[in-house]
Amino acid sequence: MLQRLAALRRDARMVLDGLRGRSPSPLVQRPPSPVYPPIAAADSAGRARTLEVAAVTRETADAVTLTLVEPTGQDLRFVPGQFFTLLVPLDDGPPLRRAYSASSSHLDPSRVTITVKRVPGGRVSSHLVEHAAPGLRLAVLGPSGDFTVAPAPGARRHVVAIAGGSGITPIMAIARGVLAVEPASRVTLLYGNRDAASIIFAAELERLRAEHGARLVVRHLLEDAGDLPGAAAGRLDAATIAAQLDAAGLDAAADASYFVCGPEAMMAEARAALTARGVAADRVREERFTAPARRQAGQATAAQPVTIRKAGVASDVIVPAGATILDAGLAAGVPLALSCAMGGCGACSVTLTTGEVALDEPNCLSATERARGTILACVARPLSPCTVEAP
Ligand SMILES: Cc1cc2nc3c(=O)[nH]c(=O)nc-3n(C[C@H](O)[C@H](O)[C@H](O)COP(=O)(O)OP(=O)(O)OC[C@H]3O[C@@H](n4cnc5c(N)ncnc54)[C@H](O)[C@@H]3O)c2cc1C
Ligand code: FES
Repeated sequence: MLQRLAALRRDARMVLDGLRGRSPSPLVQRPPSPVYPPIAAADSAGRARTLEVAAVTRETADAVTLTLVEPTGQDLRFVPGQFFTLLVPLDDGPPLRRAYSASSSHLDPSRVTITVKRVPGGRVSSHLVEHAAPGLRLAVLGPSGDFTVAPAPGARRHVVAIAGGSGITPIMAIARGVLAVEPASRVTLLYGNRDAASIIFAAELERLRAEHGARLVVRHLLEDAGDLPGAAAGRLDAATIAAQLDAAGLDAAADASYFVCGPEAMMAEARAALTARGVAADRVREERFTAPARRQAGQATAAQPVTIRKAGVASDVIVPAGATILDAGLAAGVPLALSCAMGGCGACSVTLTTGEVALDEPNCLSATERARGTILACVARPLSPCTVEAP
């Protein structure tokens, strides 16, 4: 409670300082954090690893960057644009799983940074923004995700990124990777925020711009532009995006790849702007931080018995009405693999050998995988007694 009050006081002070034009102090000074109790179910899958928070850096009044390291010194490898899934135990229930994109350079495998922006009323984001401190140990899955660019020295490309708020995180890793590894490539970033004080990585973007010159173009779009030099006033709506792309000389024929990440409404505007310009769909990549509205293929209205076979062991679990096979399996101690927990990565694939399930849509299964009987345990709700085979 006292810690929470101190955090609230600190945040209020930061907001006031921001209003007075003072920059936030970059490194958050916090007492060492307790080590959370071990996370049984996911750890026993053998895929979660424990990472330690080595530093907490204040980015804005409501966002912090956590520098994560492997306490054993092992490398942390990822492809720019990928995310890690944190398992955060907040109460007596199972740990909450939340994805956070790597924002650091993939060229430094000794550490990875993630940047967490507080979502109003959000359980995990508020907890991490307020309480994460050096020494905190977290179970982490991943990396996963295919919103990626694999930098290659010989590549020659134009990455055009459209980001809003915390959507900058995967873009940051992509920009760092492309600019560092590909001397013939360039990056154009349209970055939307409320005001100058809410820009995450403002100083780091300036540093990259100074380092890479004309190969990095950053256009800040601010609802309240204030006196930030070079920033334009406005939201990232379709008309503004189109105007900015025109200004950057990017027509439909331009040889560019588009990466879009931000609030759902902004992503819809970006999609509309790019479609209206005739940009081919295969040139546009999107990363959603919130699960899109889910369409369920059928309503699972009753609890169902499910047998999960893994490594020759059969576990019988009861999946409550509407629950997923993954949640019920983990709750019963079955070591099921998972990563994104939202149907996006395929890590929880199992084979349905008997019974019927409703699979939430969209999910990442191909038609061939579906035909083979593959289902995603994290979005599968049994409609009848089932048996699944886990790898
Ligand atoms: C692939 C992927 C990568 C991600 N990368 C990042 C990242 O780098 N940085 C980051 O800060 N977040 C990132 N997120 C979002 C993050 O995983 C959490 O969803 C977010 O921190 C909110 O969790 P919470 O527990 O605080 O909120 P919850 O307690 O789960 O939700 C509280 C309320 O907020 C709404 N909500 C949940 N998430 C969001 C959101 N992102 N925006 C607006 N409203 C939301 C919920 O619908 C709910 O009403 C990513 C998500 C995905 C899927
Ligand atoms: S855990 Fe990613 S698809 Fe199920």
